[in-house]
Amino acid sequence: MSINGSKRVAIIMGSSSDWPSIKPATEILEEMGVGYEAKVLSAHRTPKELLKYVEDRVKEAEVQVFIAGAGGAAHLAGVIAAHTTLPVLGIPMESKSLKGLDSLLSTVQMPAGIPVATFGIGSPGSINAALFACAILGIKDKKISEAIKNYRNKKAKSVLNSKLD
Ligand code: RP5
Repeated sequence: MSINGSKRVAIIMGSSSDWPSIKPATEILEEMGVGYEAKVLSAHRTPKELLKYVEDRVKEAEVQVFIAGAGGAAHLAGVIAAHTTLPVLGIPMESKSLKGLDSLLSTVQMPAGIPVATFGIGSPGSINAALFACAILGIKDKKISEAIKNYRNKKAKSVLNSKLD
């Protein structure tokens, strides 16, 4: 488990093998000054523990957004969404057999009524999910919305300063 300050975002990944793709999300949250907790819990390998974790976080009312990264038949985000009305952001992990297309389709194709906001496969999706979580929190927290603006300004400057050999 990795904790940084107060837990406004709970990040759950299905396996420790997902961590290299999920870590960039934690780096974004750190850059934006957003507290988070990152944990490995699986919808099929540890279903009871996952349910308890989500219920506990919802009861505590500190977490405001869930991020879930899973690969293969990626039902993790959907299961979390079934147990909370808080926003759930799903990141499909790249899989060995189908390169993450399986994860993407499993995460994005939630039946109507239980939404999972689904991002791109792997670390780009992870970065965007974290930025999106910040955008949600930034609606009511000016520090976070300012941090997003600074992040974008930095990105724009680096494009404008691009040097070509
Ligand atoms: C999913 O199965 C995980 O999210 C991971 O992406 C995938 C493979 O897990 P490991 O077999 O590497 O633990 O549950």
